[in-house]
Amino acid sequence: MKRIGVLTSGGDAPGMNAAIRAVVRKAIYHDIEVIGVVGGYAGLISGNFKKLEVGSVGDIIHRGGTFLFSARCEEFKTKEGQQKGIEQLKKHNIDGLVVIGGDGSYMGAKALTEQGYPCVGVPGTIDNDIPGTEFTIGFDTALNTVIDAIDKIRDTATSHERTFIIEVMGRNAGDIALWAGLAGGAETILIPEEIYNLEEIITRLKKGSERGKKHSIIVVAEGVNSGVEIGRQIEENTDFDTRVSVLGHMQRGGSPTAADRVLASRLGAYAVELLVEGKGGRAVGIEKNNLVDYDIIEALGRKHTIDNNLYQLSKELSI
Ligand code: F6P
Repeated sequence: MKRIGVLTSGGDAPGMNAAIRAVVRKAIYHDIEVIGVVGGYAGLISGNFKKLEVGSVGDIIHRGGTFLFSARCEEFKTKEGQQKGIEQLKKHNIDGLVVIGGDGSYMGAKALTEQGYPCVGVPGTIDNDIPGTEFTIGFDTALNTVIDAIDKIRDTATSHERTFIIEVMGRNAGDIALWAGLAGGAETILIPEEIYNLEEIITRLKKGSERGKKHSIIVVAEGVNSGVEIGRQIEENTDFDTRVSVLGHMQRGGSPTAADRVLASRLGAYAVELLVEGKGGRAVGIEKNNLVDYDIIEALGRKHTIDNNLYQLSKELSI
C-alpha cells in the first residue's frame, strides 16, 4: 500500500472526524499517503479527491459532523456507478479504501470488495445497527444528547403533570431508544424489535397514576411508529394530558463524547493496520473492548440484534 483513500458516507455521526484523523495519522505513521474523498460515494464517482496531510486533520477530533462531507448516493448502488468509482481510484493510484459509515455505506464497500477492490468498513452511525460490532461511532454521543433532552423534558413534564412521548432516531433499530430510555429513567420504551401493545401502555400509565405518579416519559424509536401517532392513540383512550417531542437531527450533531473519540481512533487506526497487512474486504468492530474484524460480506449477512438483557432490565426498573 502506497496510497489509500478515506470517505464518510450516509448519515453523519459524531466521531467521524476523529476516525478520519486516526486513518490519516496511522497511514502517515506507515509512510502511506492518504487521499480524502469529498462527499461520500458521489465524490468517489466524480473524482472529488484531496490529499490529506498530518495538519489536514488537526483540530477536528472534537468536532461533530464530517469535514469530508457525506451523502446518500443512489448512483453508487448501480454496477455502473461502482465501476466509475473503481476507475477513479485506479486513476489516482489509490490502493485501498476506508469507508466510514452505516449499513448503506457498508453495502457500497461490500460491492467494491466483490469487484476485487480492497476496502475496509468502519462503523460510523448513531443507530448502533451494524452487525459485527457492539458499538458504532456516534452512538454514545447521540445517547448523551437524548438523555440531556429527556432530563429537560422531565422537568416540564413534572411541573405540568403531563405524559410525554419522545421520538428518537435509530431507523429500524431500537438501540438509541433502549439505552437512552434506560439511562433517562423512561417509564415505557418502545422499540421495533418488540411488538407494542397500546392497552399495556395505557394500563401502565393508569397504574402509575393510581400510585400517585404525576407524569410519564415514553421513549419511542422512530422504527416503531411516529411519536405523534402514539400520542394521538394515548390521548384518544385516556384523559392524560399528553405532549409529543420529536428530537430529530439534533441527535446527529454535537461534539463527540470521550467514548466516541476513543472508539473512532481505535477503529480508524485498525482499519489502516488491516490494509497495511494486505487484508481488504473487512469490517472492523469492537467486542468486549477488543478490536475485531470480519469478512465484510459475511458481516453484512448477519442481523443486528438488541441486547435482550438490557431490554428486560429496563422493563423491571420502570415499574
Ligand atoms: O442513520 C442515521 C439516521 O439519522 C437515522 O437514525 C434516521 O432514520 C436517518 O439517518 C435520517 O436520514 P436523513 O438525514 O437522510 O433524513
